[in-house]
Order: sequence, then C-alpha cells, then structure tokens
Amino acid sequence: MSRPAGDPISELIKGSGIGIDIADAALADSVQQGIGRVERLLHDSVQSDFDFATRTSLHLVDAGGKRFRPLFTLLAAQFGNPQADEVITSAAVVEMIHLATLYHDDVMDEATMRRGATSANARWDNSIAILTGDFLFAQASALIADLGAEAVREMARTFELLVTGQMRETVGVGPDEDAVEFYLQVIFEKTGSLIATAGRFGAWFSGADEATVESLERIGRLIGIGFQISDDIIDIASPPEESGKTPGTDLREGVRTLPMLYALADPDTDPRLRDLLSRALTEDAEVHEALDLLRASNGLERTRATLDEYANDARKELASLPDTPAREALSVLVDYVVARTR
Ligand code: FPP
Ligand code: MG
Repeated sequence: MSRPAGDPISELIKGSGIGIDIADAALADSVQQGIGRVERLLHDSVQSDFDFATRTSLHLVDAGGKRFRPLFTLLAAQFGNPQADEVITSAAVVEMIHLATLYHDDVMDEATMRRGATSANARWDNSIAILTGDFLFAQASALIADLGAEAVREMARTFELLVTGQMRETVGVGPDEDAVEFYLQVIFEKTGSLIATAGRFGAWFSGADEATVESLERIGRLIGIGFQISDDIIDIASPPEESGKTPGTDLREGVRTLPMLYALADPDTDPRLRDLLSRALTEDAEVHEALDLLRASNGLERTRATLDEYANDARKELASLPDTPAREALSVLVDYVVARTR
C-alpha cells in the first residue's frame, strides 16, 4: 500500500517540521511513530527537580525546530529494525546535543531570534543560555551511557568536532590557508559531523551491516555540509519571516561564508562590498547594504552550484543502498536541503 506522492510528510509525520514527501504509507507510519517516541523522550529527559531548568530547556525543545537530525536517524534506521529502543534513544541524543549547541551559538552570535521566537540569551541572559546548553548536554550524556562505550566514544569525538569547528570559525582563516578549504572544514566540523553521526547511529542501532552504517555516515556528512551551505545562503537570501532568524548574522560576526568568499573571488565585485566584507559589521545600515550587494553578486549562484555538487555526491552514495522506500525518502531529504534555499 502506498500513499500518492505529494502528501506532505509534515501531515504524515507530526512533529517533523519538514515538508517533504514520503510516498510509502508503511514508511511514513514507521517514521511518524519514531518521531512521536523521540518527542516523548526529549520531553521526559529535560524534567528536573529544579523547574526553572526544565522551563529554559523546553524553550528550544518546543520552539518548533525541523527535527532534521532525528528524522535522518530514523530514515537511516530503516535498513534494519527502525523501532529498536537504541534507535530512538540515539535520535533523541543527537537532537539534544544539537539544541545544546544552539543555546551556546546564540550567545556567541549575540542572536535575538531563533526559530521565529526570542532566543534564550535574549529572553533570559547569557549565563542562563549557557547553563541550559550544559544541562541538555548532561541529560544527553545520561542517555548515551545506555548506548554503550563505543557510542559514548563516537559522540565524544563528534562533540570535539562541533567545538573545534566553532573555534576555527571564531578564530578565522590563517594567512597561509585557503579560505574555501577552511570554510568547508569548519562546516564539516560544526554541522556535518553531527549529521554524519545521526546517520551512523540510526543504521548501527537498527542492526544494519557495517557497509550500510559507513554509507549512511558518508551520506550524513554530505547532507550536513549541504545543510550548512544552504543555511549560509539563507542568512543572506531569505527574509526573517521565512527563516525564523535575523538575516546578516554572519556579516555581523565577521564570518566569511561561501557566498561571500565567492563574491570576493570575482574580480568584478563592487569595491564597496570588498570593504564591507573586510570587517565585522555593527551598523544595521551597513548590514543591509552588504546583503543587497551580496544578493546582486554572483556569489549566491556559485554557492548554489557547490550545494548541487554535494547533493549529487549524496545521491551517488544513496545509489549504493538497496532500492527501498527509505532510500527514496532519503533522496527526497537531499532534494529538501537544496530546495530550502530557493
Ligand atoms: C550554528 O551555526 C552552530 C552550530 C552548528 C554548532 C555550534 C557549536 C558550538 C556552539 C560548540 C559548543 C557547544 C557546546 C554544547 C559546548 P550557525 O551560527 O551558522 O547557524 P544558525 O544560523 O542556526 O545560528
Ligand atoms: Mg548562529
């Protein structure tokens, strides 16, 4: 039995904020059931004797995120037993680690908005936002302990990459380093690493064979890098009512993302844009001016072409997996990463 293609997954899979199509009814039901279990575990895990910690944690848990990472874990788990308890636990762990980094990231970015709502650092203050990230990390660690020492090691390594990716971005590229290579290393570490682990965990804890586990890790890495490239396009190209974030955050942070690097590499780029990209921008008027110039440059177009390359590599890797409805859904997920920037 299969549903007609075109049914939005968001209707089929309550709790996942991503509007993609899962054409196969059995798969849609399995993923929806999994997302429901992940949601319950997320909510149970942030319960504390200290109500305030629960409340500050629920701020982002309930802010209507896309649940992209747990969805990927659940799809990766379709190559074995997708309802295994460890699959659900690992999907929740991945989302909790992700949420923990967002609390910290919004402090570093001095963000005021996240997922269309006030960010935790703005609603409370930096200390509360940092401590809430730490609280989530503590709860996630307790869950990972149930997954065994190898999973703890994997997640520790992933966590290290999240931190070094963020540190590299903060410190910036060195004079002898290639700026595009540096950018790609940063986004693998700060975003690709966790999505790769989300794929590895889903396949591994479903009992899939080692080749499938490795393949889903590689697909996660490619999708993750693509996802961050699309985020960096959105920071320039999308209005806040679509992204739920304030555009131009990277410009304010003085972070040079791929569309900026490509614009700078173009000899015809407006000298005013070069000047604006040479420093962190503090004035709103300058941020808007830089955004306008970037939107008019060829940087976005070239970045979309690079995004397509990552998506195509992910599709090639998908072709090595058995031809199942889950593989089809994963290819729709790849399409989603590209389409969200249009
Ligand atoms: C968002 O990037 C941030 C990340 C993907 C990773 C952040 C990692 C850390 C803060 C490491 C430290 C974390 C802990 C828990 C110790 P972005 O700013 O490009 O995306 P955005 O547009 O969603 O803000
Ligand atoms: Mg940020």
